[in-house]
Amino acid sequence: REQTFSILKPDATRRNITGEVNAVIEKAGLRIVAQKRILMSRKEAETFYGVHKERPFFGELVEFMTSGPVVVQVLEGENAIATYREVMGATNPANAAEGTIRKLFAESVGENTAHGSDSAENAKIEIAQFFSGNEIVG
Ligand code: GTP
Ligand code: MG
Repeated sequence: REQTFSILKPDATRRNITGEVNAVIEKAGLRIVAQKRILMSRKEAETFYGVHKERPFFGELVEFMTSGPVVVQVLEGENAIATYREVMGATNPANAAEGTIRKLFAESVGENTAHGSDSAENAKIEIAQFFSGNEIVG
């Protein structure tokens, strides 16, 4: 079964809605096979979002991701990567479909509640950045 990497972002922990988000994830048929609450360091956030470092919003993004606790997760299921992207909805909650995590919970394009890997290659890299093999229990 495929695995993807997920982050419940600081706007989710701040509002104490990580359980509500997890309920949407589980109802979509994805299994949370690893999960921990961490404070991302500036360096971790810069590495994680390295592909966006030339974007105008990079500084804001790193500020936000280090502004409070996040919940990092490994999700497992059939087509987990594409399934989770669909369950999250569009990056900008204004464009997100009904019933998606970002439509239900996100506050803005910056504070958009969840991250999900966008490819198998990135899922592998991202999971390895935050979890060791023995922390993932399928
Ligand atoms: P992730 O799953 O978080 O990677 O989101 P995504 O794949 O839907 O979007 P993308 O990779 O293009 O952008 C990464 C993150 O940067 C987004 O989730 C937003 O949090 C943030 N972001 C993207 N565009 C903007 C923007 O215009 N302004 C701000 N402040 N943040 C943005
Ligand atoms: Mg992305």
